Amino acid sequence: MFLSSKDIRNTYLNFFNSKEHTIISSASLIPQNDSTLLFTNSGMSPLVPYLLGEKHPGGSRLTNCQKSFRTEDIEDVGDNRHTTFFEMLGNWSLGDYFKNDQLNWWYELLIDKFKLDSKKLYQSVYVGDDSIEKDNDSIRIISNVFSKYGIIADEGPETTGKGDLGPGFEIDFNKYRIFAYRDKNWWQRGDAIGELGGPDSETFYDTGKKHNPKFGRHCHVNCDCGRFLEIGNSVFMQYQKTKKGWVPLANKNVDFGGGLERITMILQNKDNIFETDLFINVLKKIESLSGKKYRDNMSPFEIIADHLKAATFIMGDDKGITPSNVDQGYVVRRLIRRALRYGMQIGIAKESWTYDIAETIISDYSEIYPELDRNKNFILNSLNDEENKFIKTLEKGLIEVEKIYNNIINKGAEFTITGEQAFNIYQTYGFPIEMIHEEIKKRNGKIINEEDFQKFFKKHQDTSRTAAAGKFKGGLADHSIKTTALHTAAHLLLAALRKLLGDQVTQKGSNINAERLRYDFSYPSKLTPSELEQIENLVNDAIKKNLSISQEELTVNEAKKRNAIGVFDSKYGEKVKVYKIAKDSDVFSYEICGGPHLDYTGKMGKFKITKEESSSAGVRRIKAILIK
Ligand code: ALA
Repeated sequence: MFLSSKDIRNTYLNFFNSKEHTIISSASLIPQNDSTLLFTNSGMSPLVPYLLGEKHPGGSRLTNCQKSFRTEDIEDVGDNRHTTFFEMLGNWSLGDYFKNDQLNWWYELLIDKFKLDSKKLYQSVYVGDDSIEKDNDSIRIISNVFSKYGIIADEGPETTGKGDLGPGFEIDFNKYRIFAYRDKNWWQRGDAIGELGGPDSETFYDTGKKHNPKFGRHCHVNCDCGRFLEIGNSVFMQYQKTKKGWVPLANKNVDFGGGLERITMILQNKDNIFETDLFINVLKKIESLSGKKYRDNMSPFEIIADHLKAATFIMGDDKGITPSNVDQGYVVRRLIRRALRYGMQIGIAKESWTYDIAETIISDYSEIYPELDRNKNFILNSLNDEENKFIKTLEKGLIEVEKIYNNIINKGAEFTITGEQAFNIYQTYGFPIEMIHEEIKKRNGKIINEEDFQKFFKKHQDTSRTAAAGKFKGGLADHSIKTTALHTAAHLLLAALRKLLGDQVTQKGSNINAERLRYDFSYPSKLTPSELEQIENLVNDAIKKNLSISQEELTVNEAKKRNAIGVFDSKYGEKVKVYKIAKDSDVFSYEICGGPHLDYTGKMGKFKITKEESSSAGVRRIKAILIK
């Protein structure tokens, strides 16, 4: 029976709903209250406060399908299974059930509901280290799960080596089904102090592909050859990183994530995620635009399809992200330009062709993600603008190549361009190196000292990465009292801004640590000193009045009806937390938010704005502190 991706999404959510999980909506791709991430990269990201012990309005069992984006996979797009944008099916236990239920339910879903062949499934577990013991519990549970389906599942050879390249000898996959690894079976979202982590247990599906010795002499379930496809990861989220190392959390949580694209690939019997119904319409569109066949040009087709889907989703996310040179906008720019370049490579000549692809993506997905429809014009116009800018960039870069060419021709020499010159063209005009190569080849020339290009390029990448690491932040750095006070101050600030400047002011981002808050909001012009003073006064009055901060749980519709501030989409009628800052019936701020907050404003000290500046077009940034 054919299962559409829509059936698969629904079956997953309904299955966990039948196990008493509350279905929650996908959070925004742009993190709201997170100090460490540029994009939501997994279902657990928006749930960090709840994994840390905050009460979730949906209870202690949650499930969803989360829009996710990972830049680190960008170079892998074009194999059969990686994308930058993907949907993650997730279920969570917030200190509720643990390993036994998780592993039993997941296999019940795979085998009983999705009818996967149990003989093609394999599972990995954590081998342990100096401070955390081997996950023998999971080994026992998985073995019992398999025996329910009449399969003897023994533990195979351990892999303890750094790099996790497998045990180094041939494995009998008929006999062994459970494998313990070290690095591969510990999951943490990032490396910062405060991050959560734990041992995990991954599920692999044997696609039956022949092992490719390019990836190592012998295959193993974590081998990169593509024979075994990872389709889900149960993280037993029980530790938090501190300066002293990993310490146990109050709650033992489960954080499960499975890639919808990969699960769909298997259930639709494809050997490539791009051939599933999640991509097929886009590929057809690229075929008609280019006059070429996908099968003859797989990699460029896949890059175009992936990158434009990611760009469409990021720009379609209600946050108004457009291509730019900073933060999320920079990533969108890179995605679109890379897609445009591959479009040229496969001969797409139509003007504004990315428009056609985005329209296909929006029509494929808007039933599930209605924000795409809502922001359709914004997405299409942004794509159009970026395409025009890129064309201008290319023209300027071409003139540069031409100049170098003419100079040298006049001297009657062979046409050469140095690695450094190539890098300068790349850096100044964003002219891609592959295209510089093509232009030079056209003129029968060559790049000399090409290693210089790589040298400069690497330096450039290192600097932009460092810059990115400092810049790509939003939200709360930790949950200390000082940070929490500044978080409450941020609510007062937004309320004050709206009182003074009007209700069109909305939050565009925030970054809060124990020292200061940084707050981005929509507003077209610089604030005057008098406006800044009035805002400070409004906030300080609210502090002086010692308003109380209370919290209620409402359905999204109810919260919107009561004029709570905050962008939130709900498809499942689930509840959200709304924080009210008020004295009796006099409400100063009423905002949808996950918390945490103080209980009284009187504890905050004095609010002081230290800076007001532009953040990006139409967005202002305020920095502020609390002083005793
Ligand atoms: N958070 C886990 C992952 O992303 C489930 O793999």
